[in-house]
Amino acid sequence: MTEEKIYLYPVWVRLWHLFNAILCLTLIITGISMQFSNPKFPLIAFNVSVSIHNIVGILLCLNYLIFFLGNLGTRNGRYYKLIFPGLFSRLMAQFRYYTRGLFKGEPAPYPINSERKFNPLQQLTYVGSMYILVPVIMVTGWALMYPEVIPSRFLWTSGLHLTDLFHILAAFMVSLFMFIHVYFCTIGKTPFSNFKGMINGYHETH
Ligand code: HEM
Repeated sequence: MTEEKIYLYPVWVRLWHLFNAILCLTLIITGISMQFSNPKFPLIAFNVSVSIHNIVGILLCLNYLIFFLGNLGTRNGRYYKLIFPGLFSRLMAQFRYYTRGLFKGEPAPYPINSERKFNPLQQLTYVGSMYILVPVIMVTGWALMYPEVIPSRFLWTSGLHLTDLFHILAAFMVSLFMFIHVYFCTIGKTPFSNFKGMINGYHETH
C-alpha cells in the first residue's frame, strides 16, 4: 500500500524557500523597474530601486547559504544528485507524461516517494536554477555592486556590459523558471496540495 502523505519538506527547506520566493519576487520587481526606468513615470524611484535591489540581493546570498549548507549537511541534498546514465530517456518519459499521459489519466512514470522527491524534469530544473543560474546571478550581482573588480575589456567587449548581460540573462531565466515552476506545482493531488506541502511539510500522493 502506498503512503498518502510523505514528510518531504523539513522546516529549514520551507523557511529557505519562503524567503527565497519573497526575495526573488522583490528582485524581479526592482530589477524591471531599473531596467525600464523613466524619470517621468518611475514605477519605483530609480535610487530607491537600486538600494532595495542591493539589500535584497545580499539577503538572497545569505539565504542561499542556508540552501547550500543545508543540502550539503542533511539528507535533502541527495535529491539533487543527478544520475547521468539514462537521464535523457527519463526526461523524455516525464516530458511525454506532462504533454500526453497526464491528460489521458495515465499514472506518473516517476511517482514521488521518500526516495524520489522530484521527478526527472523537476530535478534537472531545480539543479539548473539553484546550482547554475542563481550562482551566476549572485556572482555577477556582487561584481556589478563593486564594478572596479570587473576588467574594463573582456574578449571583444566591455567587461561591465558582459557582466550585466550575464546578470540579466540569468535573472530572466530564473523569472521564466519561476512562472513555469508555479504552474507545474499546481499539478498535484489537487491544484493546491503542493503549495500546502510547502507550508505543512507533507507531500500528498495520488
Ligand atoms: C511565488 C513563488 C514560488 C512558489 C509559489 C513556489 C512553490 C513551490 C512548491 C509548492 C514547491 C513544492 C513542490 C515541489 O517540490 O515542486 C516548491 C519547491 C521548490 N522550489 Fe519553489 N516556488 C516559488 C519560487 C521559487 C523560486 C524563485 C525558486 C528558485 C529560484 C524555487 C525553487 C524551488 C526548489 C529548489 C524547490 C524544491 C525544494 C526542496 O524540496 O528541496 N521556487 N516551490
